[in-house]
Amino acid sequence: MTERTDHADERAIADNYGRPDLERTILDAYENAGMDTTRLTRDDTAALDEFHIQGRDATRALADLAELRPGDRVLDVGSGIGGPARTLAAEFDCRVTGIDLVEEYCRVAETLTERLGLEDRVSVRRGNAVDLPFDDGAFDVVWLQHVSMNVAEKGRLADELHRVLRPGGRLAVHEVCAGPGGSPQFPVPWADDPSISFLTTAEELSRLLADAGFEELEWVDATDDSLEWFRSRLEAMAARPADAPPPLGLNLLMGPETPTKMQNVVRNLEDERIAVVRGVVEKSAQR
Ligand SMILES: C[S@@+](CC[C@H](N)C(=O)[O-])C[C@H]1O[C@@H](n2cnc3c(N)ncnc32)[C@H](O)[C@@H]1O
Repeated sequence: MTERTDHADERAIADNYGRPDLERTILDAYENAGMDTTRLTRDDTAALDEFHIQGRDATRALADLAELRPGDRVLDVGSGIGGPARTLAAEFDCRVTGIDLVEEYCRVAETLTERLGLEDRVSVRRGNAVDLPFDDGAFDVVWLQHVSMNVAEKGRLADELHRVLRPGGRLAVHEVCAGPGGSPQFPVPWADDPSISFLTTAEELSRLLADAGFEELEWVDATDDSLEWFRSRLEAMAARPADAPPPLGLNLLMGPETPTKMQNVVRNLEDERIAVVRGVVEKSAQR
C-alpha cells in the first residue's frame, strides 16, 4: 500500500475547517442569544452540528436507508462536531464512535456531547480516515457523510472502511461528488481552493467501493433534492432582517465567507459541476 497520508493535506484540511477558539465562539454565540449552555438540547444545536446538505433530515433518511438497529456499533468517519453521531445515538439507540482529522472539531464534539448528556453512547477521537486506528471487523455500520471530498486516496479510504466493518456490516454514504459540468467554483464549504478538493464521480465512487469488496444495496442520486434545499436556505438567509443577530448555524463553522460558499454550492449544483449521492453498500457476510 503506498504511503501518502499527506501531512501537508492534513494541515491544509485542518486550516480549512478549524477556527481558533471554535468552542468558545460557539458557546459565546449561544450565551449571547440568551441560552443556558449548561442545559443545551439537541434542537438547540441542530442548525450547527450537522455539517452537510439537508442537515438532520438527511441523517435520519440515511439511517433509515441503512436500516440501523438499536445497539449497532457505528463508526462515523469524518464526524465533524458530532451532530450525526449524536442523532444516531439519541434517535436510533446506536453506540457511536466518531473520528475526525481536526482537533478543534473533536474538542467541540466532546463538549457538545457531554452537555447533551450523550457521552455514554458517543465518543470521539482524532485520526485520519485513510489510516483508521480500529481493529478489523470492529463495527456493524460505518458512516461517511460529506467527507470523501477532502480525501485524495479514495481507494485506500474504501479499503479502510471495508476493513473495520464486520462481515455483513453496512457502509452508509452521503457524499458530494464530481458532476459532468467541469471543475467547481471555489470557495465551497469543504475547500477554499482546489488544493484540498478531490471530487470523484458517483460512478467512480461506486466502483471504488465495489473494488474494496462492497456489494451495492442502494445508490440514489440526491442532486435535485440537494439543490432545492440549498435554494430554500439561501432564500431564508436573504429574508433575514439586516439588523437580525447572526444565526446560530453553520456560519459559526464556515466563517465570514458563508454566503459565498453557499452561493457557490448552488451554482455548482445548477451547472452540474457537483452531484450528491446517498447510498448503502454491504460487506460480504462470508469470511
Ligand atoms: C463537511 S464536514 C462533515 C462533518 C460530518 N460528517 C457532518 O456531516 O456533520 C467534513 C469533515 O470531514 C473531516 N475530514 C476530512 N478529511 C478527513 C480525513 N482524511 N480523515 C478524517 N476526517 C476527515 C473534516 O475534518 C470535517 O470535519
